[in-house]
Amino acid sequence: MTIIANKCPDYKVTVVDISEEKINAWNSDKLPIFEPGLKERVLSARGKNLFFSTEIDRCIDEADIIFVSVNTPTKTFGEGAGKAVDLQFIEQTARRIKENSKSNKIVVEKSTLPVRAAETLKTILHSGNNSVQFEVLSNPEFMAEGTGISDMEDPDRILIGSMDTPSGIAARDILMDIYLHWVPGERLITTNLWSSEISKLVANAFLAQRVSSINSIASLCEVTEADVTEVSRAIGMDSRIGSRFLNAGPGFGGSCFRKDILNLVYLCEHYQLNEVAAFWEQVVSINDYQMERYVRRILQAMFNTLTGKKLAVFGFAFKPDTGDTRDAPAIYICKRLLDEKACLKITDPYALDNARKDLQGAEGKVDFIEDPCQAAEGAHGIALITEWSLYKQLDYQKIFDTMEKPAFIFDGRNHLDHQALYEIGFNVYPVGKPALTHL
Ligand code: UDX
Repeated sequence: MTIIANKCPDYKVTVVDISEEKINAWNSDKLPIFEPGLKERVLSARGKNLFFSTEIDRCIDEADIIFVSVNTPTKTFGEGAGKAVDLQFIEQTARRIKENSKSNKIVVEKSTLPVRAAETLKTILHSGNNSVQFEVLSNPEFMAEGTGISDMEDPDRILIGSMDTPSGIAARDILMDIYLHWVPGERLITTNLWSSEISKLVANAFLAQRVSSINSIASLCEVTEADVTEVSRAIGMDSRIGSRFLNAGPGFGGSCFRKDILNLVYLCEHYQLNEVAAFWEQVVSINDYQMERYVRRILQAMFNTLTGKKLAVFGFAFKPDTGDTRDAPAIYICKRLLDEKACLKITDPYALDNARKDLQGAEGKVDFIEDPCQAAEGAHGIALITEWSLYKQLDYQKIFDTMEKPAFIFDGRNHLDHQALYEIGFNVYPVGKPALTHL
């Protein structure tokens, strides 16, 4: 919405939320999320054509277009628990829009939803005796965290799904006008509503599938002395495969991949496409396996016991340049390391507040330390889980000198210079390539 406000000075954008705390933060100097480049863009539009408010009912009534961006988490209870999407926030929002609308509106699905959700949305909006007309569009968001600004300012594509009726097409054109302020026309794709809804799930499923594919090959590389980085390069240069999203790691995280694949699996099961469901579910299984494999590699390398050993955890966010830890592999990995009775010293430039919350209630010894060198002091090993660029710049000789010996480093992202670390004296365990050890 900030980018829309920046690029379309002729539109007034108001962001509303039920959380007063969040809205206050958006109106303050300390925004509630860290995203590179966002703050200056918020500041340049805020108070001019970008507003943050908790007056939801008034803002609904005033708006011509409403983007629904509420959370759609995985259901944790009842039918479909663990897979289906919890639609309660979408439904509550639809009811609130219906109750407070006195003029016709375009309602845009921004939240990721199961296919045919627009139908439900439309039914709720048009229920009762309100004469207001609502047109529902699907406009899924493909931006990734950490690169949100460039993804939004220079998107690969913008997807808009609409009903194939005169009013549906008219609404679609109104939304297209907004994006045409800065996105070249050929990058705007229009489809029917259901294709648009499904494309969002499928895009995330394909991306996650690439990560699971390369992670599965990483395990094969480790036992055959092949090098997964070399394999990624070799296959990625085939233009049919492409080079992106082929980095092996400790498993994918983030608020979307797992949730969206499980939603896809649930949908396939619902339509009795059991083989298709099993195919996609395997992407999640490999991810779980990859996180567990990372822990086992640490355990095996460190003589099959972690009891009382100090481990410095470098990075907790699910990826660099964000403080977001939703579904971060670090959560699972740290809990497992604590099960093994390791003592953890967790460091991350932006995610420590979230890390504290994520590990609340986990039994064991955990410290949260801003400075990575301090976190590594006296440690038996370093587990690098997030590839923050600052971890490349540390003085590893100095770090090594302060650590217990033999000193281990488990580079879960193949982020560091392994040969240099080995020469310093570390026992180095990368992902998907042979370990370099002095043992
Ligand atoms: C994703 C989609 O990319 C985006 O289009 C969608 O709108 C939201 O979900 P995001 O979750 O922000 O974005 O991050 P992304 O860059 O896709 O990374 C997801 C996870 O996969 C991270 O944990 C990342 O570390 C991991 N990953 C990614 C790998 O392990 N290897 C890779 O090669 C790429």
